Amino acid sequence: MQKTAPTIVVLISGRGSNLKALIDHAKSSGAYRIAAVISNRPQAGGLALAVEAGIPTAVLDHTGFEGREPFDAALADLIEQHKPDWVVLAGFMRILTAGFVARFEGRLVNVHPSLLPAFPGLNTHQQALDAGVRVHGVTVHLVTAQLDHGPIVDQAVVPVLPGDTAEDLAQRVLALEHVIYPRAVAALASGQIVLAQGRLQGALANALVHALP
Ligand code: GRF
Repeated sequence: MQKTAPTIVVLISGRGSNLKALIDHAKSSGAYRIAAVISNRPQAGGLALAVEAGIPTAVLDHTGFEGREPFDAALADLIEQHKPDWVVLAGFMRILTAGFVARFEGRLVNVHPSLLPAFPGLNTHQQALDAGVRVHGVTVHLVTAQLDHGPIVDQAVVPVLPGDTAEDLAQRVLALEHVIYPRAVAALASGQIVLAQGRLQGALANALVHALP
């Protein structure tokens, strides 16, 4: 009997370019199946990308909830209806409560546009310019209750060039997000990499290394 692919639910808030990369990788590799895409914003551009790919979508508008706890509880219930193996944050612009993280801990993954632990939070590209770093990049990490601090799954590096603007850096980093995030999700979902005591283990652990060309 053919083994069924692991399933993921993707959470978005915006244009969904990482979602698109995840959809394309699912199609070409069959490494995972996207069971649903959920947005907290009705206008998120990524919803149309999911519809186009024949993936079920749902909107849970956070503005209709009084506070984070009730929203996160409803979101977790909605996700669980799809029984995903992994929950994949792709530009989901909400701080998650500890209760939500506990429900999915160990199978909740995020992409963050900086080389963590440097520059958690927002405006990471401007933070990098202000700090004067010579390299910047992207991190895929498991999500814990502490914002942008979970165990690191994969990273990729870009140079910071003289005269760069935050927008230049955003574009350079985003191109790498689209490469490493689907690969990392596939490796996690398939069990080819696992995290033990916060460190990567498994056959693909050494393959997930990126550096300047
Ligand atoms: C990406 O840069 C992601 O790392 C960050 O938000 C952005 C989302 O972009 N968390 P998109 O919606 O995937 O195009």
